[in-house]
Amino acid sequence: MNILTFDSDEKLNEAAANIIIGQIQTTPRAVLGLATGGTPVGIYKEVVRDFQRGMFSFRNVTTFNLDEYVNLPIDHPESYHSYMNTHLFNHIDLPASQCHIPDGNASDTAAECRRYDESIELSGQIDLQLLGLGHNGHIGFNEPAHALIKGTHVVDLAEETLEANARFFDSIDDVPKQALTMGVGTILKAKKILLVVKGADKADIVHRALKGPITTDCPASLLQTHPNLIVLLDSTAAGKLS
Ligand code: PGA
Repeated sequence: MNILTFDSDEKLNEAAANIIIGQIQTTPRAVLGLATGGTPVGIYKEVVRDFQRGMFSFRNVTTFNLDEYVNLPIDHPESYHSYMNTHLFNHIDLPASQCHIPDGNASDTAAECRRYDESIELSGQIDLQLLGLGHNGHIGFNEPAHALIKGTHVVDLAEETLEANARFFDSIDDVPKQALTMGVGTILKAKKILLVVKGADKADIVHRALKGPITTDCPASLLQTHPNLIVLLDSTAAGKLS
């Protein structure tokens, strides 16, 4: 595990963007696992800026997003489809047929989960998986549980997750209660994982995830088993690491 700490949001975003861009420059046909939420917004902004400078192309890249809410219309401003269009896809040359987000509106969610896993398998292997970290240790929407599920599945969002995501909606009652998420098995199969965490409110969970016992009560702790994990933290999120 390689942990790097940054004293400014700007430097952290730049470092994360450089890892993503470096992956595309060295592997033009890269398969990227992408994340949503507050953390990656500034990272995608950097990626878009460098793309617009002509430094690289997404033409041959394939992307798979971690998750999507269940039963939130695709064009709702808080759907992860909208998020990805707003923050990344609308600004780059990634062909629409090469970006994948689970369909949270599928009538048969089990079939959709199988279809999503099959398309990940077909793409070979995720070269670089970008991850944020939930306050309860979730990665993607894999919430703390007695057992974690390997592949894409429907998940009931934890109360803490609903509270954290309420900031994006008019009220907590508007936050969808379920999501489709890539499983921990798929996340751990990525060749390289880039975990990015910001904020003093995440300092405790960063410590638990990276230094605590490996337990399904803190899904991110399983990342400790990954052979190629890069962790980028701002100095406040790193506050509890000695
Ligand atoms: P955040 O979410 O980036 O909005 O803090 C991270 C997560 O829940 O994975």
